[in-house]
Amino acid sequence: MKKPLLSLMLLLCSLATQAITTPNAHGGGFLWHKGRYYWYGEHKSNHTSAALVGITCYSSANLKDWRYEGIALPVAEQPGSDIERGCIMERPKVIYNAATRKFVMWFHLELKGRGYSAARAAVAVANKPTGPFTFLRSGRVNAGRWPALLDTARAMALRPESYKTWWTPEWHRAITQGLFVRRDLAEGQMSRDMTLYVDDDGTAYHIYSSEDNLTLHIAELTADYTSHTGRYWRMAPGGQNEAPTLFKKDGTYWMITSGCTGWAPNAARMFSAPSLAGPWTAHENPCRGPEAETTFGAQGTYALRIQGTQDFVFVADVWQPKHPSTAYYLWIPITFEDGKPTLRRENIREMRRELSFE
Ligand code: GAL
Repeated sequence: MKKPLLSLMLLLCSLATQAITTPNAHGGGFLWHKGRYYWYGEHKSNHTSAALVGITCYSSANLKDWRYEGIALPVAEQPGSDIERGCIMERPKVIYNAATRKFVMWFHLELKGRGYSAARAAVAVANKPTGPFTFLRSGRVNAGRWPALLDTARAMALRPESYKTWWTPEWHRAITQGLFVRRDLAEGQMSRDMTLYVDDDGTAYHIYSSEDNLTLHIAELTADYTSHTGRYWRMAPGGQNEAPTLFKKDGTYWMITSGCTGWAPNAARMFSAPSLAGPWTAHENPCRGPEAETTFGAQGTYALRIQGTQDFVFVADVWQPKHPSTAYYLWIPITFEDGKPTLRRENIREMRRELSFE
């Protein structure tokens, strides 16, 4: 075993003892900035998964001792605001833009009282990593733009009214050919579970479950990271992937996702590609050991790189839909076996909160 990985495991060993300061930051994302890790996530309350508080922020110099930094982006009090208290704010991720010196947060937003039908991406910016973040806007993604590498003439010829029954082989073929891209072309593409990724050249990408959670999109962001450029690719069309996590190791992009079973855990999926444009190759479930077929009861949220190393930790949520605030976290160092990322049960560090937050 390589030394950095060993020290990472030792470091993670003490996570379980950090009960009182364990963050209330679910579906979280991490940012390394000037010697500290920042952890942003969904504040969960006791009886609903709707957002009553907002997006929280915690910071740590060592990934063990977490300091509460407050609400980075609070819900709004004004009725009718996109982020009105009672909306759904999920899976926030924050990246730093060196040119504008702004911290840019994207998250999945559902409007209050509309279930999961809005399927919007939302963006907010701040001058400091801890916020306060200013909400900019929310909406569907890349209206009027076709994805790269899609046969648009064939997609244009697809008639949504011809496929009223879902899940037939014909419907599935039409989905892979872009039936829902075409359906949502004018309004913009749906955007739910998401992550962000900044490549080595500083270009940022927004990766989100689109097309009614059937297909992931990988969409380029503008130079200031606050809009989409209109350039995007589809990934695993019709494959029903959620909870995307993305990292690059030795020039290969790895994506670990989940299937679509709501709060119930399912088997993780894994893909690799030489470029974000693909082609993506599907691999076997990276989990090993008891409960591998349910990702050990969890669903991924972020592939966290340990600063100064090429080692990554897969951070995952164990959801508790009946009492959302008691959801907890699994931190699983990603080992490489036969050149492929592997998540072993014996390496899991559980991070639980013992106090219930209102
Ligand atoms: C999960 C998703 C969560 C949340 C939940 C709602 O599949 O990953 O972020 O949206 O569904 O049921």
